[in-house]
This record gives sequence, structure tokens and C-alpha cells, in this order.
Amino acid sequence: MSKIYRLPAALANQIAAGEVIERPASVVKELIENALDAGATRINVVTEFGGKKLISVEDDGEGMTPEDARLAVERHATSKLRTSEDLAAILTLGFRGEALPSIASVSRFRLRTRTRGSISGTQIRIDAGELMSAGEVGAPEGTLIEVQELFFNLPARRKFLKADTAESAQVSRLVTQLALGYPEVGFTFRSGGRAIVETPPAASLAERFFQIYGDRADLIEVRKHAAGITVHGYVAALAETGPVRGPQHVFVNRRLVRDRTISHAIQQAYSVATIKERSPEVHLFIELPPDRVDVNVHPTKAEVRFLDGGLVHEVLRRAIVDALGQTGVPELVLSQATLTPALPVAGALPLTFASRSADPLADAIERAISQPPSVGSGDPRVGATSGRETIATLIKPMTPLGQFRNTFIIAVDDEGLAIIDQHVAHERILFEQISERLLGGTLESQRLLTPIVLDLGAGEHATLKGHALALEQFGFQLEDFGGTSIRVSAVPALLKLEACESALRAAAGDLEGLAPGSGISESVRQLAATMACHAAVKANDSLTIDKMKYLLDELRRTAHSSVCPHGRPVVLRLTRREIERNFERI
Ligand SMILES: Nc1ncnc2c1ncn2[C@@H]1O[C@H](COP(=O)(O)OP(=O)(O)OP(=O)(O)O)[C@@H](O)[C@H]1O
Ligand SMILES: [Mg+2]
Repeated sequence: MSKIYRLPAALANQIAAGEVIERPASVVKELIENALDAGATRINVVTEFGGKKLISVEDDGEGMTPEDARLAVERHATSKLRTSEDLAAILTLGFRGEALPSIASVSRFRLRTRTRGSISGTQIRIDAGELMSAGEVGAPEGTLIEVQELFFNLPARRKFLKADTAESAQVSRLVTQLALGYPEVGFTFRSGGRAIVETPPAASLAERFFQIYGDRADLIEVRKHAAGITVHGYVAALAETGPVRGPQHVFVNRRLVRDRTISHAIQQAYSVATIKERSPEVHLFIELPPDRVDVNVHPTKAEVRFLDGGLVHEVLRRAIVDALGQTGVPELVLSQATLTPALPVAGALPLTFASRSADPLADAIERAISQPPSVGSGDPRVGATSGRETIATLIKPMTPLGQFRNTFIIAVDDEGLAIIDQHVAHERILFEQISERLLGGTLESQRLLTPIVLDLGAGEHATLKGHALALEQFGFQLEDFGGTSIRVSAVPALLKLEACESALRAAAGDLEGLAPGSGISESVRQLAATMACHAAVKANDSLTIDKMKYLLDELRRTAHSSVCPHGRPVVLRLTRREIERNFERI
């Protein structure tokens, strides 16, 4: 007798269900997608006990004939695909013919459906994959699918489900996402008798967006069409405290997906303002010809593969960068200036780090004071940098009052009160200055009288060696010194001597994982952030009023003054209105 035998259909379905159906939300996703493929204009979702007891999805789509209804619950039966050529350009959300039989194999399942114009409908009941009944019934046009006791026959799976509220929250999130993707379709979701989502059919994405999120001044619109790719949607603006964090919804050809190319493009677009990924809120709709994206790569269809990922990346990145540059938020004016360096390359920059001093900040202040920016044609800040001037005139000067716990500067202007994180502010300023000096080739290096020898870990050593070129641009001169030691004979002039070692070790950590060579500009940006962090004043440093004033003035001239290069907020603002309201003056 043969040792191999064919699995019974019910068992094969359960195994398939293991991949496709993980929890109530996955059932809801499959059923809504079917309804959308059937051209529904209204979809009503109901769950009880987080979907563990009941999930029901009703639509007013095209319905199924009695024959189709019977086929629909069989494995690999689909109306959406005929030939392998079809698979190369899928226009529907479903294409495998797996969802219904999978769901029916792990629940008590009822399907009731009627095609438009036919006199009666069909009802099919299946328990754990076994057909219980099939026959004619009276039914409204469209399709209703009820899934009761999900995983009742797979106790191990059932045990992995979360609390009802958590499962219900996932369903709610999913319905919201799909509602966002299909504005023309009306959605309702009721859980335990409560209406959770209610979005009547909308005329546009903007209208649907408003239905779900209301007025969102913290988001901006993105719209771009290039190289056959269309990008539309809403993304976090660069607000005072950095872009709002939030969900990242991405639809590719109206399919909700997760994709690393896309996430990376989003992160890159925002890295103009912040280095660390802060997971800004985005709702993006990307359209491209269906034959340029493979949707058949993931068991729950949550991922896609682009024929030309690089192009999608670039179009999306530019779409977001363009949108961020058009918001009229003051710092964005400058972000443009930063992108296309406006500072003169050579000569006397307003602040130079050329002379090695125990306190680069004090040094900088002295120079700034001795060369007031408004006087003298020799000051490159005047005239040469229109972007900066715009910003300086847009943001009013703030008067420092003092420090709080030697860590925060308290300042006022006409608009209210500001609390500034002194380290983060200085870091931001230095980051910009370093970036500019790098572009202009004027970042000073300082030769050490006594070279420092550093014993590094093997990983640190390899990383620093790999990024030697970028480090050299910053003014580091490093040589191998046997084993995993290195000798440092020159360092960037802006670093205090005692900060050099920790800066290099931090650089090794921060650069780890960045591909050396290929990612020069990436490593340079990262190094700029690391150096800025290590050269900046620290928390608990006592500052004179002059130093505070210098920091505030420079901050004002800085491109993305509201966030540090690592994405931390710089300024906390208490507006005049808030203050007055608290004192009941309005
Ligand atoms: N709500 C519905 N309205 C009309 N027809 C439906 C509906 N749900 C399913 N069908 C029909 O049943 C078939 C099987 O559905 P099923 O979800 O199992 O597979 P699919 O959608 O073709 O592919 P996938 O497994 O990728 O979802 C569909 O191809 C479609 O013809
Ligand atoms: Mg389907």
C-alpha cells in the first residue's frame, strides 16, 4: 500500500484556513473583499463577542446563482481568474478561490445569496467543512455570509484569540481602512449591538476622509502623477512637535498592503526633517498598471511585489517631499533652502569652528556678537541666503528668561511662552551647520598633538572601517593600530576633545547596518546627527543668558527648528490664548 494519500477535502481546507484565516478580522477582510469584488455599494458588518460568536457580512452586490453558490464554497473555485495570463494582471481583490471554503471549514457557516432580478435565492449551511443543507430561500438581492463559532473545531486556534474587545478593535480598524480605500461604498460596522463605523457612500476620498477623521489640519494632501504611477492621499505635516505619528495606510491599486519599499520611501521623504523614523501618519493610494505589480506573493494577500520597486520608491518619495514643501509651514520654506544649499561655499561663515577652544559654543557666540548679522557686507548671512532670511522674518525672536533645571530654556515672545530643550535645540542647530559646512567643504578638522588610541569591539571596528570615507569627510583621520584598535590622529574641530571617543563609538553604533560605500550620503547624514549630538550642550549644563539668546537666535534660523535630527521635539509652546484661558481672562 502506498504511504502517500490524498488529504480529505475538509482537512485540506482546514490547512489552507491556517494560512488565510488567523482571527475574526481576517474573516471580515475576506468577506468584505468578496463584497467589493461583487460590486456592492453597501456593506454591513456585524460581530458578537469580538467575532468569536458571530461575524456577519451583508452586501448588495451582484449575488450568486444557485450553481455558483455551490461552487463558491469549493476549494479553488473562483470567478475571478481563468488562465495563468490573468494572474499577471489581477484587477480583483480575490483570485485564489480559497477564502470561502477555508472559512467554512473552521466555523458554522451560512451563505445566503440572490442575483439581481432572480425570483428566489439560495442558502447553504456548512459546519466545519461539512455540507449540512443547500436549498432555495427568499432573500434580498446580494449576499449575506454568517460565520458562527469561529475555530469551534480547532480549540488550539481558538485559544490564541485575544479578548473580545481586542478582536473587535482589530475588526473596527480593518473596516475603517477598507472604508477609506472605497469611498464610493457605504460601510457600517456594529459590534455587540453598538454602531462602531458608519460611513455612507461618499463622492470622493476627501469626503470619506472627513467622515472618518473629521478636520485634520495636521495632515496635508499628496498628489502626483509620474512615470505611469499615481500617488494620492494625506500625510502628516511637519508640525511644531514633528509630524503626527499614526497609522500608515497604504493601498496599491486599491489593495491594502504592507510594503517595505513604500515604508522606506515614506521614511526617506521625512528624513529631510528628522533622521529617526517617527512613523508619521500616512494614508496613501498608489495606482499603477496591474501588470507592473505582482499580488500573488503572500498568503493573506497583504504584500505585493513591484516589477520596478526603485521607480515606485522614487515617485512616492518625491510626491511626499513635494507635498511637505508646499504647506506654508515656516520651517518648510527652509526645508527647500536646505535641499538646495543656498549658503556661499567659501569664505567667512557666520560661525566657524576653526579655532580649537574648550567651549565651541562660547566661541561661536563671541564671533556672532562681534559680527552682528545686520552690519557689514562681509557677513554671508546677509543677502546670500534668501531662504534663511525668510525664516528669520517669519519666526519672531524670543527672549530667554532663564533655565529650568539647567535643562530647558524658558523664553517668551508676543505669542506666548516657550520651553526649549537646550540639548535638542543645539543639536538641531549644529546638525544644520555641519550639513552646510559639509556641502561647502568647510568642515574643519583638527590634528591632535597626541593621537588617541581606541580599543574597539570587532563590530565597531568593522563598521568604522567600512565608513572610513564618510568619516574622513567629517575630519576624522583613523588608522588601524593592530587587532581591533584604531589610532585617531585628527578629529572634527567642532568636537570637544573629551567627546571624541564617545562620538566615534556612537558613530559605530549608528552606522551599523548601513551599507558602507553604497550609502555614503546616508552615512554622512547619520554622522552629522551623531556629531551634532555629541558636540551639543548637554542637559544639566548651566547656560548664561547670552548663550541662551544665541541658541534661540540660531534656532530661529534653522530649517526644521521644531524637531531635532533624531526627531525629538525641540520646543513646547504655551500660547497666549492657552495662558489667558487658564486664568479665565477670555
Ligand atoms: N459577496 C459575494 N458576492 C458575489 N459573489 C461572491 C461573493 N463572495 C464570493 N463570491 C463568489 O465566490 C467565489 C469564491 O469566493 P472566495 O472568496 O472563496 O474566492 P475568490 O474571491 O475568488 O479568491 P480569494 O480566495 O483570493 O478570495 C468568488 O470568486 C465569487 O465568484
Ligand atoms: Mg475572496
